[in-house]
Amino acid sequence: MTSNINIVEVGPRDGLQNEKQTIDVATKVELIDRLSSTGLATVEAGAFVSPKWVPQMAATDAVMAQINRKQGISYPVLTPNMRGYDGARTAKADTIAVFGAASESFSQKNINVSIEESMERFKPVVNAAKADGVRARGYVSCVLGCPYEGDIPVKNVVRVSKALYEMGCYEISLGDTIGVGVAGKAKAMIRAVASEVPVTALAGHFHDTYGQSLANIWAAVEEGITTFDCSVSGLGGCPYAPGASGNVATEDVVYMLHGSGFETGVDLEKLIDISGWISAKLGRTPASKVTMARQAARNI
Ligand code: HMG
Ligand code: MG
Repeated sequence: MTSNINIVEVGPRDGLQNEKQTIDVATKVELIDRLSSTGLATVEAGAFVSPKWVPQMAATDAVMAQINRKQGISYPVLTPNMRGYDGARTAKADTIAVFGAASESFSQKNINVSIEESMERFKPVVNAAKADGVRARGYVSCVLGCPYEGDIPVKNVVRVSKALYEMGCYEISLGDTIGVGVAGKAKAMIRAVASEVPVTALAGHFHDTYGQSLANIWAAVEEGITTFDCSVSGLGGCPYAPGASGNVATEDVVYMLHGSGFETGVDLEKLIDISGWISAKLGRTPASKVTMARQAARNI
């Protein structure tokens, strides 16, 4: 097993997209800038999606214009179609992400097209990115279950992952959108996908709805995955996945990995401070056990 793990911080996008309250641009910019000073190499900054579908991401152009971009840090944005890609280009994004699903119903609810139509829609986006020297990432949602269909056949996950990889996505992020997955099933799913897509090109994206995300990450590490999407303070959820809670908390993942001898390059103490700050801003208790424990210890 490798000793280096890459963390993709998705809090400013996946974390904030589901918030009911309006979050001003200044707060989003501060969140991204603070996260950029922790040692993270990737901070997903927003989404060029329809503001009618996801109002919280409407100001991504302003956020991209105001963040203090640090050399060596990548700031990906989601782009569901060419309209989104044009927005990303204007904002000078270095990386874009197309997002498909292994479930037909989720694809319809989330992006209003079938899986097959979504692939046709993504092709010109990924091709344009390639031509422009912009990196393209691919997400696959519902890899361990769907809020509308329940269990999803692993072969569907393999098919969509392979299609996105062959299209030219450098990395395929496997999303347990509603956090129903468990370690044994995660392992079997990853093994199947890794038979068609190099495991080095796979990332894990686990939501923590059922409290299984850390176990799933450990299982994924054992299968050879070295990149994980996480959200500071465990913020997040998908507006088109009812009941889905946040991503696994970045600080919980970093705590588990560092304690087990892995390196992430991320400063845990800084993350804990950011987690406390953004949770206070949003008026909620951090969903991270590590932040809660550390805050309690500080108050002794
Ligand atoms: P549609 O209604 O089928 O699209 O939506 P349309 O082409 O008919 O356009 C409808 C309206 O949207 C038009 O405006 C377009 O101009 C506008 P109107 O004429 O009505 O005023 N529009 C756009 N505006 C801004 N940016 C764009 C854009 N495209 C069209 N790019 C569409 C199709 C894909 C646009 C819509 O369904 C959408 O935006 N969906 C995004 C949903 C979303 O962001 N979900 C959350 C992210 S995915 C996720 O969280 C899962 C993940 O974390 C992994 C996991 O956990 O599984 C990644
Ligand atoms: Mg997600």
